[in-house]
Amino acid sequence: MLTGKRILLVIGGGIAAYKCLDLIRRLRERGASVTPVMTRAAEQFVTPLSVSALAGEEVHRDLFDLTKEAEMGHIQLSRVADLVLVAPATADLMGKMAGGLASDLATTLLMATDTPVMIAPAMNVRMWDHPATQRNLATLLADGVTVVGPNEGDMACGEYGPGRMSEPLEIVAAIQAVFADGPLKGRKVLVTSGPTHEPIDPVRYIANRSSGSQGTAIANALRALGAEVIFVTGPAEAPRPTGVQIVEVETAREMREAALAALPVDAGVFAAAVADWRVASASNSKIKKTKGGLPVLEFAENPDILAEISQMTEGRPGLVVGFAAETDDVVANATSKRQRKGCDWIVANDVSPETGIMGGSENAVVLISKEGSEDWPRMGKDEVARALADRIAAVLAQG
Ligand code: CTP
Repeated sequence: MLTGKRILLVIGGGIAAYKCLDLIRRLRERGASVTPVMTRAAEQFVTPLSVSALAGEEVHRDLFDLTKEAEMGHIQLSRVADLVLVAPATADLMGKMAGGLASDLATTLLMATDTPVMIAPAMNVRMWDHPATQRNLATLLADGVTVVGPNEGDMACGEYGPGRMSEPLEIVAAIQAVFADGPLKGRKVLVTSGPTHEPIDPVRYIANRSSGSQGTAIANALRALGAEVIFVTGPAEAPRPTGVQIVEVETAREMREAALAALPVDAGVFAAAVADWRVASASNSKIKKTKGGLPVLEFAENPDILAEISQMTEGRPGLVVGFAAETDDVVANATSKRQRKGCDWIVANDVSPETGIMGGSENAVVLISKEGSEDWPRMGKDEVARALADRIAAVLAQG
């Protein structure tokens, strides 16, 4: 429920603005109030009349409204909310936000606000992939803006790919995650997730079968208990968690940089399937087939992020949780891995192909700590995540 929560909804000018009508209803059904603000471009897609009828409040449109500005209306408007939601966040709005522009009511109140901001991007796939948009996204994430979506799929412009605005209920879930209150409130947790890609040349890379779904589930479960989560992910196919700070990386070395930059944290959960090796010197140009000759790849060892952070003498997280993907002697191998790496717990799982765990929706884990090993029954990855988050909360509450 979102009882009593005040959402300031900034509607941007994109075709996805039509979804805001349903979104407003969904938010109000859950007890939130919605104060709508529309950009001029948004009015080309949905009418202020429909928006205000559904919100039950007038639509704010003008920065230079004399009556309201006599009371510094835009400042007040930006402060009364518990959350400012920008949906759809167009490429233009994201650019203005990242650049700190205040050229109309919407962008001015986004600059003036001191409440959390969430954006639901929506745009053409090429606009989303454009380096400028990705740069702006990184800036906004670093500024603490929460991002929900975009989703992948058919687009109104006839193309296919990431760029569709999240569905209203997905946005509602992300908002609920922002307001989550629980035993981990005030705690900061780092989660690494997904595979890493290690380049061979500009078009080829070494990867593994990790989907990132267990890491995403853990981040969501921690967030649901109120934790502030920094989610460092390789190029995973699983959807990203909501209501958390997301740092996208590609290689093990980038993941290490991002994980170290996230410190200090109360706990670190290292669910990523980090590539142990990289190609020692990846080629800058595509390796060509040569008659009769096969390329020889030389490998170099990647940094072990879990071991490095577990063994820090200063600034080590209070609780460090590693994962072990094993195919033989699960408990024995994971127990020695825990000791070797110096982490507090290892969540070990049997990833032999016949278990269907790698890339599947279920997991059967053994939790290894210095007290010994504990078998958990086979269950959904979401349930494993919730059980692990509960354990983490219990341990942090003691310390
Ligand atoms: N890990 C890491 N950095 C690496 C390799 C692994 O942080 N370069 C972390 C993983 O996120 C996981 C744990 O270490 O939490 C176990 O990884 P795994 O690959 O199973 O262990 P290895 O050290 O590779 O041992 P082995 O090859 O013997 O399985």
